[in-house]
Amino acid sequence: MCGIFGYVGQRNDAGSLVIDGLKNLEYRGYDSWGVACKTNGKVTIEKEIGKISTVERADFAQQCSLAAGHTRWATHGGVTKLNAHPHANSNQTIAVVHNGIIENYQEIREGLKQKGHSFVSETDSEIIPHLIEEYMKETDDFASAARRACKDFDGRFGFLALNTESNTLVAARRGSPLIVGVGKDGYFIASDIPAFMEHTKLVQYLDDGEMVVTDGTNIIFSDLETGEEIQKREIEITWSVEQAQKGEFDHFMLKEIMDQKESVARAVNQNEDQIITLAEAINNAQGTFLVGCGTAAKACMAAEYFFSVIAEKHVNFAPASEFKLYHHFLKPESLLIVVSQSGETADVLEAMKIAKSKGSKVLAICNVEGSTIDREADYSLLINAGPERAVASTKALTGQMAVLMLIAYAMNDKLREGQKLLLETSSKINDMLNPRYVNFIEELAEKIQDKSDLFIIGKSWNYPMALESAIKIQEVSYVHAEGFAGGELKHGPIALIEEGTPCIALVGNDEVKADIISNAIELKARGGFIVGVAPENNEVFDVWIKVPDAGTAQAIVNIIPVQALAYFLAVKRGKDPDMPRNLAKSVTVK
Ligand code: F6R
Repeated sequence: MCGIFGYVGQRNDAGSLVIDGLKNLEYRGYDSWGVACKTNGKVTIEKEIGKISTVERADFAQQCSLAAGHTRWATHGGVTKLNAHPHANSNQTIAVVHNGIIENYQEIREGLKQKGHSFVSETDSEIIPHLIEEYMKETDDFASAARRACKDFDGRFGFLALNTESNTLVAARRGSPLIVGVGKDGYFIASDIPAFMEHTKLVQYLDDGEMVVTDGTNIIFSDLETGEEIQKREIEITWSVEQAQKGEFDHFMLKEIMDQKESVARAVNQNEDQIITLAEAINNAQGTFLVGCGTAAKACMAAEYFFSVIAEKHVNFAPASEFKLYHHFLKPESLLIVVSQSGETADVLEAMKIAKSKGSKVLAICNVEGSTIDREADYSLLINAGPERAVASTKALTGQMAVLMLIAYAMNDKLREGQKLLLETSSKINDMLNPRYVNFIEELAEKIQDKSDLFIIGKSWNYPMALESAIKIQEVSYVHAEGFAGGELKHGPIALIEEGTPCIALVGNDEVKADIISNAIELKARGGFIVGVAPENNEVFDVWIKVPDAGTAQAIVNIIPVQALAYFLAVKRGKDPDMPRNLAKSVTVK
């Protein structure tokens, strides 16, 4: 949540460089934005409510070589210009952009007020430049004052501070990610790599409890607590600039849905020895738990079925935010599998902490290489989906399910069978996502766009996909959508069905097909307008969205047309599918 980006170096267009970079981070927050530049020895700040993508500001802060900016997802304080970051100190020599929450900010702010500091915003963040300023009265050194300030903070944070006097950037991390980009003519510091990807592919990761200070020529990493210097490796990232761009598509969400023509195959392309080792680790574990949040949690739920049907192994799913009370079942022989696109989700990190405190091992399945979860897990597998920029997760989900399914096959000594099935599925997805197919879904969206409620049913692994379908439709189109296990309907929810209520049935050619068709018939008898997502047509369907028959991989295929339907419902209803209201990608607060 919240995008952070700053630059210091020899370039003299730091203001517009930071604005451009922040546009690539807008998925992290988009209620307001701001940039601070060093001009004439002081901090100049521009901030506005709204999206930075609409800003054309090549004229802003000409001749500036030190800048830091932010796109905000409000936590403390409403969406106002005053609450937008950066925040400055009294003398306008320090500006700070911040991600996370400083829990004891009220107490610190009171202390600072008594020392003569005044505050203009309602944010916790504004105390940071003031506290650093206060400590700089005792030590002239900006970095030491920032380190000392961090010691006073409770909570999880990542902040970037610029100081006009020393011409430096300082970044500190306790919880929220920050990454350094090593440029030819200076250093970049950002919450995510896409901010600076067009300038450099060389990165250095700041770990939790670390700080970095740079003047654009030299850079020093150190321990936040002790000040001890830390040597960092430079790592070359593999994502390309093109992968992170919209290309010919109107929105990232549609691009990422279409990317699934290839991304499932990329997910399957794993090191076989590693998959076999992990499969053995799960087979030998005494208790395996699967956790994730939101869409990633639905991949975990689907994997419960994969592990049961394919590997005949019981694993326990819990939403990461509910994992706390499972600690009683954890021991050193237990295994926690965490699934996360961003690799930065706070609830998932918390679950990992709980597992580690019990000595259990953690396997991470992530998309973002070098993310905190990827680096802190004992074992890690990347799904290789490429950058996912739309807030709504699409290609990451199918990649996560493909990797989990591959592991399930390997657990039953059938890795080759799993690879074959998933690669065949990938080429079927490629055939399915042709322009005629996409148009058909767009026409369906046109037809049902004014409906206020929508229900989705599924059984077995299509049940988590029904839940996921509801998330997709809710978050981008704002239509009330709910997913159910088909068999649960007659226990209550069927009371909601009226004449013409759209109901999507997710069907496979499997042992539960007859049951889910019966459930669809029950809905139709109450007036439901039945959209069947299925390999074969059925007389109960009012509309049939044909999907290829993918056997045990049916869930991976069935979710894709519903992702597209959610996208087109959003567009038809005049909503921005890439940046839905109230949401942000990468939820780094609990
Ligand atoms: C919904 C969505 C979210 C994320 C969730 C977890 O479309 O994107 O529900 O799936 O916030 O995020 P990651 O996977 O980054 O841990």
